[in-house]
Amino acid sequence: MSETRSYPRHAKTDAGDIEFRLMSRTDEAAVLDFAQKLPGHDLLFLPRNISEPKVLSAWINEIERGAIKSLLAVRADKVVGCGTLVRDPHSWSPHVGEIRMVVSLDVRGQGVGRALSQETFALALGAGLEKLSVQMTVDQQAAIALFESLGFKAEALLRDHVRDVDGKKHDIVVLGHNVAQVRAQMEAYGLPGAVQH
Ligand SMILES: CC(C)(COP(=O)(O)OP(=O)(O)OC[C@H]1O[C@@H](n2cnc3c(N)ncnc32)[C@H](O)[C@@H]1OP(=O)(O)O)[C@@H](O)C(=O)NCCC(=O)NCCS
Repeated sequence: MSETRSYPRHAKTDAGDIEFRLMSRTDEAAVLDFAQKLPGHDLLFLPRNISEPKVLSAWINEIERGAIKSLLAVRADKVVGCGTLVRDPHSWSPHVGEIRMVVSLDVRGQGVGRALSQETFALALGAGLEKLSVQMTVDQQAAIALFESLGFKAEALLRDHVRDVDGKKHDIVVLGHNVAQVRAQMEAYGLPGAVQH
Protein backbone atom coordinates (compact mmCIF):
# COMPACT_ATOMS: atom_id res chain seq x y z
CA MET A 1 0.00 0.00 0.00
CA SER A 2 1.32 3.42 -0.89
CA GLU A 3 -0.43 6.73 -0.21
CA THR A 4 0.48 10.33 -0.84
CA ARG A 5 0.36 12.67 2.11
CA SER A 6 -0.25 16.32 1.27
CA TYR A 7 1.90 19.29 2.38
CA PRO A 8 2.23 21.87 3.77
CA ARG A 9 0.77 20.84 7.10
CA HIS A 10 0.71 22.77 10.36
CA ALA A 11 1.10 21.96 14.04
CA LYS A 12 0.88 24.03 17.21
CA THR A 13 3.79 23.49 19.59
CA ASP A 14 5.13 25.29 22.67
CA ALA A 15 7.57 26.94 20.23
CA GLY A 16 4.65 28.37 18.27
CA ASP A 17 3.05 27.44 14.94
CA ILE A 18 5.20 25.11 12.86
CA GLU A 19 4.77 24.46 9.16
CA PHE A 20 5.89 21.12 7.74
CA ARG A 21 6.75 20.96 4.06
CA LEU A 22 8.85 18.85 1.74
CA MET A 23 12.40 20.11 1.21
CA SER A 24 13.54 21.07 -2.28
CA ARG A 25 16.51 22.80 -3.92
CA THR A 26 15.09 26.25 -3.15
CA ASP A 27 15.65 25.46 0.55
CA GLU A 28 19.41 24.87 0.13
CA ALA A 29 20.60 28.15 1.72
CA ALA A 30 18.08 28.00 4.59
CA VAL A 31 18.96 24.37 5.42
CA LEU A 32 22.70 25.10 5.27
CA ASP A 33 22.20 27.97 7.74
CA PHE A 34 20.19 25.62 10.01
CA ALA A 35 22.81 22.84 9.77
CA GLN A 36 25.77 25.13 10.42
CA LYS A 37 24.23 26.34 13.70
CA LEU A 38 23.82 22.79 15.05
CA PRO A 39 26.41 21.43 17.50
CA GLY A 40 28.80 19.08 15.64
CA HIS A 41 28.05 16.30 18.14
CA ASP A 42 24.37 16.35 17.14
CA LEU A 43 25.27 15.46 13.55
CA LEU A 44 27.17 12.25 14.34
CA PHE A 45 24.13 10.05 13.63
CA LEU A 46 24.30 11.13 9.98
CA PRO A 47 26.53 9.36 7.46
CA ARG A 48 27.97 12.70 6.27
CA ASN A 49 28.40 16.18 7.69
CA ILE A 50 25.43 18.18 6.37
CA SER A 51 26.96 21.47 7.45
CA GLU A 52 29.29 21.16 4.42
CA PRO A 53 27.75 22.73 1.29
CA LYS A 54 28.79 19.86 -1.01
CA VAL A 55 27.17 17.28 1.27
CA LEU A 56 23.99 19.33 1.38
CA SER A 57 23.99 19.64 -2.40
CA ALA A 58 24.40 15.83 -2.77
CA TRP A 59 21.49 15.37 -0.33
CA ILE A 60 19.27 17.57 -2.52
CA ASN A 61 20.33 15.53 -5.57
CA GLU A 62 19.11 12.42 -3.72
CA ILE A 63 15.79 14.17 -2.98
CA GLU A 64 15.42 14.99 -6.68
CA ARG A 65 16.30 11.37 -7.58
CA GLY A 66 13.52 10.22 -5.24
CA ALA A 67 15.73 8.19 -2.87
CA ILE A 68 15.20 10.57 0.04
CA LYS A 69 12.25 12.58 1.31
CA SER A 70 12.98 15.37 3.76
CA LEU A 71 10.43 17.30 5.74
CA LEU A 72 11.32 20.74 7.00
CA ALA A 73 9.84 22.22 10.17
CA VAL A 74 9.60 25.94 9.54
CA ARG A 75 8.76 28.68 12.03
CA ALA A 76 8.34 32.24 10.78
CA ASP A 77 10.20 31.42 7.53
CA LYS A 78 13.13 29.89 9.40
CA VAL A 79 14.06 26.20 9.28
CA VAL A 80 13.97 24.86 12.85
CA GLY A 81 13.95 21.14 12.17
CA CYS A 82 14.39 18.47 9.55
CA GLY A 83 13.06 14.91 9.40
CA THR A 84 14.27 12.63 6.62
CA LEU A 85 13.15 9.28 5.29
CA VAL A 86 15.81 7.32 3.42
CA ARG A 87 15.09 4.17 1.45
CA ASP A 88 16.68 2.14 -1.31
CA PRO A 89 14.08 0.29 -3.40
CA HIS A 90 16.86 -1.51 -5.34
CA SER A 91 18.60 -2.98 -2.27
CA TRP A 92 17.74 -6.17 -0.36
CA SER A 93 15.85 -3.94 2.08
CA PRO A 94 13.27 -2.22 -0.12
CA HIS A 95 10.74 -2.61 2.70
CA VAL A 96 12.92 -0.71 5.20
CA GLY A 97 13.24 3.04 5.71
CA GLU A 98 15.65 4.98 7.89
CA ILE A 99 14.47 8.07 9.73
CA ARG A 100 16.94 10.88 10.45
CA MET A 101 15.86 13.85 12.47
CA VAL A 102 17.33 16.97 14.02
CA VAL A 103 15.84 20.10 15.61
CA SER A 104 17.60 23.43 16.17
CA LEU A 105 18.90 24.05 19.68
CA ASP A 106 16.84 27.18 20.30
CA VAL A 107 13.48 25.37 20.01
CA ARG A 108 14.34 22.04 21.66
CA GLY A 109 12.14 20.70 24.44
CA GLN A 110 9.05 22.48 23.09
CA GLY A 111 7.39 19.72 21.10
CA VAL A 112 8.85 20.40 17.63
CA GLY A 113 10.75 17.09 17.62
CA ARG A 114 7.65 15.13 18.65
CA ALA A 115 5.49 16.75 15.96
CA LEU A 116 8.23 16.27 13.34
CA SER A 117 8.77 12.63 14.31
CA GLN A 118 5.04 11.98 13.95
CA GLU A 119 5.01 13.62 10.52
CA THR A 120 8.05 11.66 9.38
CA PHE A 121 6.54 8.45 10.75
CA ALA A 122 3.32 9.14 8.83
CA LEU A 123 5.37 9.76 5.68
CA ALA A 124 6.98 6.32 6.14
CA LEU A 125 3.63 4.62 6.70
CA GLY A 126 2.20 6.36 3.64
CA ALA A 127 5.16 5.08 1.59
CA GLY A 128 4.12 1.52 2.41
CA LEU A 129 7.30 0.66 4.33
CA GLU A 130 7.24 -2.35 6.64
CA LYS A 131 10.13 -1.58 8.94
CA LEU A 132 11.79 1.62 10.15
CA SER A 133 15.17 2.17 11.71
CA VAL A 134 16.75 5.12 13.41
CA GLN A 135 20.24 5.55 14.82
CA MET A 136 21.95 7.98 17.14
CA THR A 137 24.90 8.27 19.53
CA VAL A 138 24.05 6.57 22.83
CA ASP A 139 24.11 9.86 24.76
CA GLN A 140 21.21 11.37 22.76
CA GLN A 141 18.73 10.73 25.57
CA ALA A 142 15.99 12.94 24.12
CA ALA A 143 16.14 11.19 20.74
CA ILE A 144 16.10 7.72 22.32
CA ALA A 145 13.15 8.63 24.60
CA LEU A 146 11.27 10.19 21.71
CA PHE A 147 11.64 7.21 19.34
CA GLU A 148 10.97 4.67 22.10
CA SER A 149 7.71 6.49 22.82
CA LEU A 150 6.78 5.93 19.17
CA GLY A 151 7.33 2.19 19.60
CA PHE A 152 10.94 1.84 18.41
CA LYS A 153 13.08 -0.71 20.27
CA ALA A 154 16.86 -1.05 20.55
CA GLU A 155 18.17 -3.62 18.06
CA ALA A 156 21.92 -3.03 17.94
CA LEU A 157 24.82 -1.28 19.60
CA LEU A 158 27.75 -0.35 17.35
CA ARG A 159 30.78 0.35 19.51
CA ASP A 160 33.20 3.16 18.58
CA HIS A 161 31.30 3.45 15.33
CA VAL A 162 31.66 7.18 14.60
CA ARG A 163 34.57 9.56 15.10
CA ASP A 164 33.99 13.26 15.78
CA VAL A 165 36.10 16.16 14.47
CA ASP A 166 38.37 15.91 17.54
CA GLY A 167 39.07 12.24 16.82
CA LYS A 168 36.93 10.95 19.71
CA LYS A 169 34.94 7.79 18.97
CA HIS A 170 31.31 7.27 20.03
CA ASP A 171 28.94 4.31 20.21
CA ILE A 172 25.83 4.25 18.02
CA VAL A 173 22.53 2.65 19.01
CA VAL A 174 20.18 1.38 16.29
CA LEU A 175 16.46 1.27 17.06
CA GLY A 176 13.90 -0.53 14.91
CA HIS A 177 10.15 -0.46 14.49
CA ASN A 178 7.94 -3.00 12.75
CA VAL A 179 5.46 -0.61 11.10
CA ALA A 180 3.67 -3.37 9.20
CA GLN A 181 2.40 -4.52 12.58
CA VAL A 182 1.13 -1.01 13.41
CA ARG A 183 -0.69 -0.83 10.10
CA ALA A 184 -2.29 -4.22 10.73
CA GLN A 185 -3.36 -3.07 14.22
CA MET A 186 -4.87 0.14 12.84
CA GLU A 187 -6.76 -1.83 10.23
CA ALA A 188 -7.99 -4.16 12.96
CA TYR A 189 -9.28 -1.05 14.80
CA GLY A 190 -11.00 0.09 11.59
CA LEU A 191 -8.60 3.01 11.04
CA PRO A 192 -6.84 2.20 7.75
CA GLY A 193 -6.86 5.84 6.56
CA ALA A 194 -5.85 7.37 9.89
CA VAL A 195 -2.35 8.35 8.81
CA GLN A 196 -3.08 9.85 5.40
CA HIS A 197 -4.37 13.24 4.08
C1 LIG B 1 15.86 14.35 19.27
C2 LIG B 1 15.43 15.78 18.99
C3 LIG B 1 15.09 15.91 17.52
C4 LIG B 1 14.20 16.10 19.86
O1 LIG B 1 13.71 17.39 19.49
P1 LIG B 1 12.87 18.30 20.49
O2 LIG B 1 12.19 19.35 19.71
O3 LIG B 1 13.71 18.76 21.62
O4 LIG B 1 11.80 17.23 21.03
P2 LIG B 1 10.48 17.48 21.88
O5 LIG B 1 10.53 18.78 22.63
O6 LIG B 1 9.31 17.30 20.99
O7 LIG B 1 10.53 16.29 22.92
C5 LIG B 1 10.19 14.99 22.48
C6 LIG B 1 10.50 13.97 23.53
O8 LIG B 1 11.91 13.86 23.70
C7 LIG B 1 12.20 13.60 25.07
N1 LIG B 1 13.05 14.68 25.54
C8 LIG B 1 13.09 15.97 25.11
N2 LIG B 1 14.07 16.63 25.73
C9 LIG B 1 14.65 15.74 26.57
C10 LIG B 1 15.75 15.79 27.45
N3 LIG B 1 16.45 16.92 27.62
N4 LIG B 1 16.09 14.67 28.12
C11 LIG B 1 15.41 13.51 27.95
N5 LIG B 1 14.36 13.40 27.11
C12 LIG B 1 13.99 14.50 26.45
C13 LIG B 1 10.91 13.52 25.80
O9 LIG B 1 10.56 12.15 25.82
C14 LIG B 1 9.97 14.27 24.92
O10 LIG B 1 8.69 13.73 25.03
P3 LIG B 1 7.47 14.54 25.67
O11 LIG B 1 6.79 15.11 24.47
O12 LIG B 1 6.69 13.47 26.31
O13 LIG B 1 8.01 15.57 26.60
C15 LIG B 1 16.57 16.79 19.35
O14 LIG B 1 16.95 16.57 20.68
C16 LIG B 1 17.78 16.68 18.45
O15 LIG B 1 17.82 17.29 17.38
N6 LIG B 1 18.83 15.91 18.87
C17 LIG B 1 20.08 15.80 18.15
C18 LIG B 1 19.97 15.00 16.89
C19 LIG B 1 19.77 13.53 17.11
O16 LIG B 1 20.45 12.89 17.88
N7 LIG B 1 18.80 12.98 16.39
C20 LIG B 1 18.47 11.60 16.51
C21 LIG B 1 18.79 10.87 15.28
S1 LIG B 1 17.36 10.40 14.39
